[in-house]
Amino acid sequence: MRTLDGLIKHGVKGRRILVRCDLNVPLSEGAKRTVTDDGRIRASLPVLTKLLDHGARVIVAAHLGRPAGPADAAYSLGPVADRLAQLLGRPVEMALDTVGPSARLLADGLGDGALLLLENVRFHPGETSKDDAERHAFASCLALLTGGEDDGGAFVEDAFGAVHRKHASVFDVATLLPHYCGDLVRDELNVLRELTGEPERPYVVVLGGSKVSDKLAVIDSLLPKVDRLLVGGAMCFTFLAAQGHEVGDSLLEADQIEACRALLTATSADGTPKIVLPSDVVVAADVTEEAAAEIVAADAIPAVSKGLDIGPETVKTFAAALADAKTVFWNGPMGVFEIAQFAAGTKGVAEAVAAVDGLSVVGGGDSAAAVRALGLDVTAFGHISTGGGASLEFLEGKTLPGVAVLDEA
Ligand code: 3PG
Repeated sequence: MRTLDGLIKHGVKGRRILVRCDLNVPLSEGAKRTVTDDGRIRASLPVLTKLLDHGARVIVAAHLGRPAGPADAAYSLGPVADRLAQLLGRPVEMALDTVGPSARLLADGLGDGALLLLENVRFHPGETSKDDAERHAFASCLALLTGGEDDGGAFVEDAFGAVHRKHASVFDVATLLPHYCGDLVRDELNVLRELTGEPERPYVVVLGGSKVSDKLAVIDSLLPKVDRLLVGGAMCFTFLAAQGHEVGDSLLEADQIEACRALLTATSADGTPKIVLPSDVVVAADVTEEAAAEIVAADAIPAVSKGLDIGPETVKTFAAALADAKTVFWNGPMGVFEIAQFAAGTKGVAEAVAAVDGLSVVGGGDSAAAVRALGLDVTAFGHISTGGGASLEFLEGKTLPGVAVLDEA
């Protein structure tokens, strides 16, 4: 796999380099949308700065959300361009399109050490198309913005959060230009490889988030490897239902109950169940700041209530399970942390993960955003990944198209 430093050693001054970044960040609602968590933008700075400092003409391709098409102005990367310029301390030119007249004009006119951000690549149907030819055609247009290989064009893959997507700007473009692995992707892979190799034990995984269906595959592949798997977030209610408990009005994926029941049978060498579920939960009738919240036992959720956070007894149990861990991977919030009265579970677990004397990895946009939103010390964690789905698919042992393509000559 060719590295960014290798590219820089060959000289990048005056060359147009296409960099795929993951700038998929949350934005505020309302007329003037602004970036509410800039973690992924900050994580992209080192590679961009390195290239700019060496005189490259940098063209950044990135996506934001899952727009229905170009008319979906709410998904414009405009607010991201503003924040990127602030953080870089340099001007950022923003194209009005992805590979259209605006992008071509600005790419042609780029000066040494200048940066152009293309509009959301998902505004173009070729980006996510399942049709190889359609994707390839869009990728060719992206590659052409650099002038192509003969004109010094090259591609740097730095969007770790998107490497699990076989999309034009992540995968196909690397088949058309000399390609290099960005430092962010390199660092993320190095840390995640520690988890899939011989992790120091005890190895504890904490999973949260809303949908258990998204996590079943990773739970299945993690269970033989971990010592304990702690489950919180809305996904715990399908597991609680699998244990035969009523979960009231909580989020439930009824078609996944059987699969959860099968997973619950996994035990450690000493016969204790590997999956640890909440013993108490915070419930309310509505997901609002004003709703009257109460703490109930996990097997006594009232029929009209929604479970919105793990309870204090569970936080203690999870913290105790994490206390002697030497390796921890945490993905997914424990509750609706954006609302203060449902944030204590996520905060408690985050603090316990931060206190781990060993390797602690926070994976996932939401858990990483939670760490920052709750004002926790980000340096206390071993590694905060920029990739949610990407890190889970890596741990599942799946091939990541955006990484695999870098191994090809
Ligand atoms: C993410 O937010 O996990 C990445 O940016 C990928 O986004 P996607 O799930 O919409 O492909």
